[in-house]
Amino acid sequence: MQDLDENTVTDATLAQMGTTPDPRLKQIMEAAVRHMHAFAREVDLTPSEWLTAIGFLTEVGKACTDIRQEFILLSDVLGLSAVVNALHDKKAAELGTQSSLLGPFFREGAAELPLGASIIANPSVPEIVLYGQVTDNDGRPLPNALVQVWQTDEHGLYDVQAHDDAHMDMRGNFRTDASGHYHFRTVRPLGYSIPMDGPVGRLVAQQGRHGMRPSHIHILITAEGHRELVTALYFGDDDHIASDTVFGVSNSLVVQSKADPESPIPGLRAVRYDFKMPRAADNDTGRVGADPASFKPAAE
Ligand code: BEZ
Ligand code: FE
Repeated sequence: MQDLDENTVTDATLAQMGTTPDPRLKQIMEAAVRHMHAFAREVDLTPSEWLTAIGFLTEVGKACTDIRQEFILLSDVLGLSAVVNALHDKKAAELGTQSSLLGPFFREGAAELPLGASIIANPSVPEIVLYGQVTDNDGRPLPNALVQVWQTDEHGLYDVQAHDDAHMDMRGNFRTDASGHYHFRTVRPLGYSIPMDGPVGRLVAQQGRHGMRPSHIHILITAEGHRELVTALYFGDDDHIASDTVFGVSNSLVVQSKADPESPIPGLRAVRYDFKMPRAADNDTGRVGADPASFKPAAE
């Protein structure tokens, strides 16, 4: 027996967890316990505050569905997703196009569309063109790369917010041509608020934050032998370009649409963006985000 106080309980916990056979689980849980105990001591956490936090996390869990991942949203607004992304980028064999958040609105199984198609079923504003080339880090074209795109519409809504659950819109998958080029039509998405009707939105409001993301188009590119690229392009003239609620913007990902005589669809404003895919590395740890539907209870 030992008399434990708020300090010695940390070592007692670590000692008991010392039997963990999986070394990585052991390392992660030890650090988590040390930091969580230190956090409680630093703020002198009271029982009622801790119960409030547990109630909050319970609500976050209950808000998760096949089309909504409130825990990812929580990680996003706390800047943790951005930290994990930056660590992931640092482990790449070479640095290609910078990554950005996958966010909670990615869905597997969008339609594969021919190059030049529009990803918007009923555009109410003039379309724009997004085009460019997918290459390796040395500029060699990558034919047949899968380019998955998804975005909000001109009103700032994703399909799952604008339509019923099953209806896919404002998203599509394309294959680069023999010279690695891609192009498709879309509308300029409107910047939007993260979902504010759940516990995470309530927290953001309590913190006096605006909850807005600047206008952006999500891109996920896969090419054989290369590291999967999860990124997004951000429109530089958006009012919230410098204060993204989820810290996804990097300067190299900021774009502007313009009249462009070299665009494959002349007459429409265009954004040209070339993507560089780094080589796959042994230490690749997978995608930094997921389709909400892929989170199933461990027992299933
Ligand atoms: C998004 O870009 O879709 C997104 C990312 C993080 C939180 C909410 C939305
Ligand atoms: Fe988004």
